[in-house]
Amino acid sequence: MQPIRKATVIGAGVMGAGIAAQFANAGVPVLLLDIVPDGAANRNALAEGAIAKMLKTEPAPFMSARAAKLVTPGNIEDHLAGIAESDWIVEAVVERLDVKQALYRKIDAVRRPGTAVSSNTSTIPLAMLTSGLSEAFTRDFLITHFFNPPRYMRLVEIVTGPHTDEKLANTVADFADRVLGKSIVLCKDSPGFIANRLGVYWLQIGVIEAIDMGLTVEDADAIIGRPMGIPKTGVFGLIDLVGLDLMPHINASLAQSLPAGDAFHAANRDLPLIRKMIADGYTGRKGKGGFYRLNRAGGGKLKEAIDLASGAYRPEQKRDLPELEAASKNLRALLGSPGKIGRYAWRVLGQTLAYAACLVPGAADDIVAIDEAMRLGYNWQWGPFELIDKLGAGWLAEQLEREGLAVPALLRAAKDKPFYRLLDGRRQYLGTDGGYHDLRRPDGVLMLEDVKRVSKPLLKNASAAVWDIGDGVLCFEFTSKSNSLDAEIIALLGKTIPVVQTGYKALVIYNEGRNFSVGANLGLAIFAANIAAWSEIDALIAAGQQTYKALKYAPFPVVSAPAGMALGGGCEILLHSDAVQAHAESYIGLVECGVGVVPGWGGCKEMLSRWSASGLLPRGPMPAPTKVFETISTATVSKSAAEAKDLLFLRPNDGITMNRYRLLADAKALALKLAVDYAPPKPVDLKLPGAAGRLAFTMAAEGFHQRGVATDHDMVVAGALAEVLSGGSADIIDLVNEDQLLALERGAFMRLMRTAGTLARIEHLLVTGKPLRN
Ligand code: NAI
Repeated sequence: MQPIRKATVIGAGVMGAGIAAQFANAGVPVLLLDIVPDGAANRNALAEGAIAKMLKTEPAPFMSARAAKLVTPGNIEDHLAGIAESDWIVEAVVERLDVKQALYRKIDAVRRPGTAVSSNTSTIPLAMLTSGLSEAFTRDFLITHFFNPPRYMRLVEIVTGPHTDEKLANTVADFADRVLGKSIVLCKDSPGFIANRLGVYWLQIGVIEAIDMGLTVEDADAIIGRPMGIPKTGVFGLIDLVGLDLMPHINASLAQSLPAGDAFHAANRDLPLIRKMIADGYTGRKGKGGFYRLNRAGGGKLKEAIDLASGAYRPEQKRDLPELEAASKNLRALLGSPGKIGRYAWRVLGQTLAYAACLVPGAADDIVAIDEAMRLGYNWQWGPFELIDKLGAGWLAEQLEREGLAVPALLRAAKDKPFYRLLDGRRQYLGTDGGYHDLRRPDGVLMLEDVKRVSKPLLKNASAAVWDIGDGVLCFEFTSKSNSLDAEIIALLGKTIPVVQTGYKALVIYNEGRNFSVGANLGLAIFAANIAAWSEIDALIAAGQQTYKALKYAPFPVVSAPAGMALGGGCEILLHSDAVQAHAESYIGLVECGVGVVPGWGGCKEMLSRWSASGLLPRGPMPAPTKVFETISTATVSKSAAEAKDLLFLRPNDGITMNRYRLLADAKALALKLAVDYAPPKPVDLKLPGAAGRLAFTMAAEGFHQRGVATDHDMVVAGALAEVLSGGSADIIDLVNEDQLLALERGAFMRLMRTAGTLARIEHLLVTGKPLRN
């Protein structure tokens, strides 16, 4: 099969449109086809409508406005011939075997032989999809099951048949991994594959046990969510999210295709409450509401939840459940605790984990596939077998037996052996043969987690560590809470620079937290302010400025590799790096104004110099500061790495990695490339507008103030920012150098820190997690 350069997606519904968008996000041109609606004047109305809708959807399916242009809408009557130019055709039409097969025959007639065709079916076995189709078609066919929403869910389940061409399947899997950024889990051709087979069972058990025990939906979700490393939507919140109406369809399909002895059948009880809710339009968040709803009657916004016994809505009742506090550290204690809370936790998790253990080898070759499918398809922090290890397989088997529930063979075989173990720093899993096997990463994947298991840090303190990631490259890792930046990080960064020069080639700044960095540690800042330790705050600003500057001019390349949020000081470190290799899902911004300060670690300086040198703006001293003022004063955060390029938080040549697992390897490769003939950047002085510019910015801000868009304290902050960005208050400014700009940033930062408005903003954010608009 030839490399994939162009794709077609057929079916422009929820999934097809989202999958097409992800091709486009990866820079791959894609044809999106749907049927011609009866009597439609616009024959492409469905595909065009889907694109238009996606441009308004939040969270956005497209990573940038540019990406949307790569999707060409069409219809299967007029444009099917166009698929001959595609290298991969994804079918994502309604879940009906007859419709899918009729379409396959049409596709087979026009596609180039050797073009991959895959179905996004969630329930129909591959053997049924291909039955009666040509041999050539069967060879080129596989299932690629994406999760909703396709941009954000990292899992793609792949199913191949006995006749599927192995090379073709590998090409598709490799493309889905590297280019689309998905993690591939290979599944057997069994009903529901892996994630939904287990996920649907888990949801079903969660619902029936809550009803039987007379629990509230709030308590049920609190028990099943966080303590088990499951998103806080728990069971009922998740059903609201995916849609109640989907449940009966998936349940019916599983009930029809699973063998009689499968535990699913006992859980698949008719639930009159859910039937009634669907009939009344309570299909979840997309409908009038679900188990939870926002009651807007009388212009209010009252959060309500359904009473599982009566089916009536009542105000939401969230309460503290002391049993849950220690649960994240001791899950077994929660499951064994007396009373309803412990009983529900046990009944739901116990049965779910037992079911997971029944899926090997019928649905998956090994436990690793099941754990990865649940982590990436359902956002579980730990896969089921990792959860079993927390409880002990022997303990779980004993409890199941005591309840009169079947103990799966795999669990019995494990006895008291863990499903995962460490041997000489290597992580191993228990195979169905009773032996342990090394967990292998896909080719080209480098994880800091693995490096850390087998080595000691070169440097380390309470908030950061430095690791040797091989080939002469060091990795600087933030280890503080939420990777917030503090004096310890700055100090260790300072100490790292000379260490790199003892024979290493480059430095990568990277970590495997959910967010690269949320910015400076505001808790410490407010603590210092409350005891009037102004000189300490000032010293930290100065140290950060000098360290970031030293990083920029160090005689070796520095590559930062963010994923998730890179805010405030976390963004400023990117701005001082020679290059950035960003995960596609990077949310980058200078958000300081939101908490009442200005970027103080060189963020203003670097943004001014980027926009001045960009060639994107008209000449003269005003355009660059104006652009930077707009971006910083509104605390703009990019919604993707692609968007960060538009804002110049990333440079045009910075790299973007689609697959999170591949980020470190890509960053390291980039650092090594830069290390050949590396020369640090030359300092550049800037021409800035001075007092006239400052006045213009202040007047612009005043306009927003008068319209009620900017608050009183916004005006104070905007005034300070205006002074920095215009180069100070002198009437005529010639050239401003880096140190002068840093001094302006530091002065403005310290002045703002001493205002009551700024302190109120910081305190409010720390207490409520929300910005204060004072
Ligand atoms: P949907 O109902 O939103 O969209 C289906 C689209 O297919 C509609 O736009 C329809 O007009 C079009 N269509 C129907 N017959 C067609 C034909 N002959 N030729 C071209 N287009 C045709 O459905 P959704 O949810 O996007 O599901 C699509 C597939 O993805 C199904 O197989 C489903 O099981 C699967 N799936 C759905 C997930 C979900 O969360 N909705 C998740 C994973 C897989």
